[in-house]
Amino acid sequence: MKTQPKVVEYNFEASAFDWEIAPGKTIEAWGFNKQLPGPVLRANAGDTMVVRITNNLSEPTTIHWHGICLPAAMDGTDGVQKPIEPGESFEYRFVVKDAGTFWYHAHTNETVQMERGMYGALIIDGETDPVVDGEKIFMIDDMKLDENNEFTKPSWFLPRAMERHDGRQGNTLLLNGKENLIINVNGGQTERWRFINSSSARYFVLHLGGKAFKVIASDGGLLEHPVTMTEALITPGERIDIAIDFKEGESFAIESLAYDRMTFLRAKRETFATVKAGENKPSIAFIPERLRTIIPLASQDAAITRKVKLSVDPRIRDQKDFKINDGVHVNDKPVMVGELQIWEVSNTSRMDHPFHLHGFFFQVIEENGKAPEYMAWKDTVNLKPRSTIKIAWMPDNRPGTWMYHCHIIEHHAAGMMATFDVIDGSKPYEPKAPTHSHRHH
Ligand code: C2O
Ligand code: CU
Repeated sequence: MKTQPKVVEYNFEASAFDWEIAPGKTIEAWGFNKQLPGPVLRANAGDTMVVRITNNLSEPTTIHWHGICLPAAMDGTDGVQKPIEPGESFEYRFVVKDAGTFWYHAHTNETVQMERGMYGALIIDGETDPVVDGEKIFMIDDMKLDENNEFTKPSWFLPRAMERHDGRQGNTLLLNGKENLIINVNGGQTERWRFINSSSARYFVLHLGGKAFKVIASDGGLLEHPVTMTEALITPGERIDIAIDFKEGESFAIESLAYDRMTFLRAKRETFATVKAGENKPSIAFIPERLRTIIPLASQDAAITRKVKLSVDPRIRDQKDFKINDGVHVNDKPVMVGELQIWEVSNTSRMDHPFHLHGFFFQVIEENGKAPEYMAWKDTVNLKPRSTIKIAWMPDNRPGTWMYHCHIIEHHAAGMMATFDVIDGSKPYEPKAPTHSHRHH
């Protein structure tokens, strides 16, 4: 049964508010409708989503719809819109074409606004989504708080330099804005759990006490086949959906295994929440072996059309150390609508970086000389130290200014980002003067 496309409307107020992350432990959060995370936005593939935002913060903001293939003018960056000033409103309106797990977050002064909680989930349901007994959305975050539950401001040189280098990783571990969440489920059932890494810098290695789970989707929706795993890396910006079964009476932790991303901070294994399975209930869940077909955009040996280089200059000197193509906050060459893009993205630094492309899904066609283990549509992908990948993507007819950047928010702010235009070749092209306002570092 095909459902008629509809218009789904939301009203958002961005403001500062008190948020209890644990009993008696309250922080001053920034967010939407006084919730952390912000409200879950939900629609069917093909619907039009309208989000009206009124900014009651003390500073300007914009909202980016991470992963949604929308018109450039709705992308929520300061390259395509004037930031929404305090007291002003703005209406975002776009069609949500693709089913999947997406999210939204502030895209202005992110190192402050995202850190304080300006993010939420955006779920698009599709007609071929597998049938499950239940669903949960988990937004992963951590905060760096002092003993008064206030956000720390690194004030002297060494902590500041470390935070720029490592990204801001805190020891207040949050799942859906709460510490030590208890999650109740029922034995005999299968649920779909959607994980979104909304932290500034944390590499989250999902581990469920050793239980096997099936990864069924990533950034751009369903995979072709479920992939069984016991641990899965989710870098900042990335999403994965899993199908998981429960046994009556079992209890296990949602934890992150240690991941060494080669920073000053030592990696360790940490628990985010506890799951408890109650009595058995009947199940109607069915996870098919074939979830969908993903047609490859290009073969592994396709000719490279562009090279993108991520690097870290070891001299902190003038703070221009996190680079793309040897510059900071770069303007890259335009791409033409309809011309297949094969980008070689390399990371010459000694640390990991999650590479994010706005507005378009890509396929990873090669990773360090090898084909990836399975096909997926992605918008964020990790680059290990000294590694190279090839991605393929198609600029469809959505001309305008887009960007790509490292999703470790501190690296993005320090300069590891670029803007570029998608242009319609049938119209004359007038390159704009760079409009990008460089942010508060
Ligand atoms: Cu989720 Cu420009 O990023
Ligand atoms: Cu980075």
